[in-house]
Amino acid sequence: MRDDAFVRLTHEGPLSLVTMNRPDKLNALSQEVLADLKEAVTEIKGRRETRVVILTGEGKAFVAGADIAGMRDLDPIAARSFSAFGHQVFASLEQLPCPVIAAVNGFALGGGCELALACDFIYASERAKFGQPEVGLGVTPGFGGTQRLGRRVGVGVARELVYTGKIIDAAEALRVGLVNAVFAPEALMDEARKTAALIASQGPVAVALCKEVMNQGEGRPLPDGNALEVDAFGRAFESPQQREGMSAFLEKSKATFGDR
Ligand code: COA
Repeated sequence: MRDDAFVRLTHEGPLSLVTMNRPDKLNALSQEVLADLKEAVTEIKGRRETRVVILTGEGKAFVAGADIAGMRDLDPIAARSFSAFGHQVFASLEQLPCPVIAAVNGFALGGGCELALACDFIYASERAKFGQPEVGLGVTPGFGGTQRLGRRVGVGVARELVYTGKIIDAAEALRVGLVNAVFAPEALMDEARKTAALIASQGPVAVALCKEVMNQGEGRPLPDGNALEVDAFGRAFESPQQREGMSAFLEKSKATFGDR
């Protein structure tokens, strides 16, 4: 990554930490920010030691949305391609082989809420705020809000949030199931790291297979999803990590799994 990139990427053993880093504009997602995020995701994908990712924001926002200044003068064709690019970047994040925890430290509005939804699950600071305020700007959500939000919280709540554009606090986000847990601002990253460490201590091939089939099964009829699981279960036995994990249990020792 460039030194002046809008996304900071650091690695700590099995953890890769992605920090959206455009604090003067509340980490708003311009074309450039999205391109930097794409680069970070590509680097993580190629780093075999990474078993888990935490994504957070620098300053008082997680991400306050797509860049309104950059969008105002777009024509319909350019708008479509901006939306498609955002979708492409978020899909690559969603499809990373290791889990991604969104640690939402502040505003997660519009594209910020959508970015958090492209992560596997969300931890929030008590200061976090969520919403899809796009209709107030005369547009629809463009990076997945009309699709991923309903899959996460149910269509009723999603429709209400999208049609009203209202902003909800962390407690409400917890109540509707948008976030898994809420922490004091100073505890958020420690808690995300604890969960990340727990994930990183599991069999990485197994975790990656779980993520793959949970993603692919979403929205499919149950028998189709279950068929994906049968296949994944068999594939888990192709890895030496299966024998390592089971032998360690039977020998009452701790498994050493290696990389994903
Ligand atoms: N796009 C572009 N710039 C943005 C932005 C966005 N989505 N969100 C914030 N910014 C910029 C502001 O324009 C301001 O820039 P400036 O200092 O050059 O004027 C800077 O970030 C700080 O934001 P500011 O509005 O002064 O902070 P605040 O604490 O008073 O308000 C928010 C915070 C999040 C309530 C407010 O910034 C906001 O409503 N942002 C837009 C949210 C939105 O509609 N997102 C969906 C976009 S599709």
